[in-house]
Amino acid sequence: MKRKLFAATLCASMVAGMIVAPVAVKAESKGLIGVAMPTQDLQRWNQDGENMKKELEAKGYEVDLQYAGNDVATQVAQVENMIANGDQLLVIASIEGDSLGTVLAQAKEANIPVIAYDRLIMNTDAVSYYATFDNYLVGKTQGQFLVDALDLDNQDGPFNIEFVTGDPGDNNVNFFFGGAMDVLQPYIDAGKLVVPSGQMTKEEVATANWATETAQARFENILSSFYADGTNLDAVLASNDSTALGVENALDANYTGEYPIITGQDCDIANMPNIINGKQAMSVFKDTRTLASKVVEMVDAIMQGGEAPVNDTETYDNGTGVIPSYLCEPVAVTVDNYKEMLVDSGYYTEDQLK
Ligand code: BGC
Repeated sequence: MKRKLFAATLCASMVAGMIVAPVAVKAESKGLIGVAMPTQDLQRWNQDGENMKKELEAKGYEVDLQYAGNDVATQVAQVENMIANGDQLLVIASIEGDSLGTVLAQAKEANIPVIAYDRLIMNTDAVSYYATFDNYLVGKTQGQFLVDALDLDNQDGPFNIEFVTGDPGDNNVNFFFGGAMDVLQPYIDAGKLVVPSGQMTKEEVATANWATETAQARFENILSSFYADGTNLDAVLASNDSTALGVENALDANYTGEYPIITGQDCDIANMPNIINGKQAMSVFKDTRTLASKVVEMVDAIMQGGEAPVNDTETYDNGTGVIPSYLCEPVAVTVDNYKEMLVDSGYYTEDQLK
């Protein structure tokens, strides 16, 4: 799929009624790849975007990298522009899984392959592939961590637990929260785990945009309504680090009981001090370098006219059928293995974690 100088100009001018700036593609470019990321607010998407750009460029592609500030309309406009600009393949980490159907119909029409990055894009047949971490395993790992830490197979408790998950429009939430609940529900049914707030449905425990402040505000309410009388909180299932941080901030200001066991995901730098000092018991490490490398491999295969590597053809149905997927492996990180997983592997320097 090598293309000549200014091929994109032609494509751009063919899009009816739209005035778009043509993107000049270098003569030797292997093609122009659009990479749409949700936001720069959270650490991981900056890493994902940078890794993708660096690796695609190293392979000879040009990269049109866009961040949408967690605003769905902005992301739709960015993807529209990518199509109009002649981007030849789109890699998209969606803000809301259900909001890209219309714009992606244009991509399909223009024969532009789409890879859903990390989050599945729902209810559109324009998605060719999905690359992510095993999201269900992320949730199960968090749930199992709590089972082991509370020794639920041997202790009767009852232990008090609360739940905090992410944005309800992010399809991953169904897998993170679903995986954790599949592990924890039997202990709730057995009366070993009790939820003093009673908040247990996905809607009740969701956090719009995965925002720390939103999780914190909800948790402050929970603490003042259900724990102000000295009731002990034993565990918090938080689906990721930005929401775990909200829980930790709320506890710092409003709770004097024994500190609960808290889960997380991403190993964000902001959470690492709390993991190292024991405030956050674990995080699930998803090495964004691995995901980016895999997606670059997929892009390259598709651009050469081949099939992308996949390792799962059963799990991720986006409403139009199962999307062939590549699932990378998540790993639990605690104070005991963070050095090996994060520092020795070169993900962070020792200094970054101070
Ligand atoms: C990602 C998580 C991330 C969350 C918030 C999810 O879709 O899989 O790694 O913590 O979004 O950005």
